[in-house]
Amino acid sequence: MHIHKYEKIWLTFGIGSLVVFLGITGVMAFHQGTHPNNSMITVNYEEVDTIAPFNNPGVHKVDGKDWDYEVVVTSSAFFYNPMELVVPVGAKVKFITTSKDVVHGFQITGTNINMMAEPGYVSEYVTTVDQVGEYLIVCNEYCGTGHTQMFSMLKVVEPDEL
Ligand code: CUA
Repeated sequence: MHIHKYEKIWLTFGIGSLVVFLGITGVMAFHQGTHPNNSMITVNYEEVDTIAPFNNPGVHKVDGKDWDYEVVVTSSAFFYNPMELVVPVGAKVKFITTSKDVVHGFQITGTNINMMAEPGYVSEYVTTVDQVGEYLIVCNEYCGTGHTQMFSMLKVVEPDEL
């Protein structure tokens, strides 16, 4: 079978693109941990405030776990509770959030932390905060008229500044 020269070039380009895109997806999924919420942990979204750990939002030091701190945040229209989070640099932190009403986002700008906060489901992400700074937490899922006002702040500080 004869394949025209340009046809071969386009076939090579097409297959090459596919390999590159699959490669990028693979690196993101397996190396950077980008994946959909596994929806394994559920919660009654109408009673979030009474259910642990969401009955005590904030930054908590924990012992005997694979991480040093748990950051518990509730998301609701149109704010996060708490408004500000402070963690020491170098700590391994588990971020935990859920929504009390509609779907919200939980993106910490300048980091690879980007979760959805869905009513009925608990979203978690474990990472090490390795750079001092102030990071804006924004809602990146359109959730209503106050969407653009929905933000919080993560402060990563030297341990002696805690
Ligand atoms: Cu919450 Cu947009």
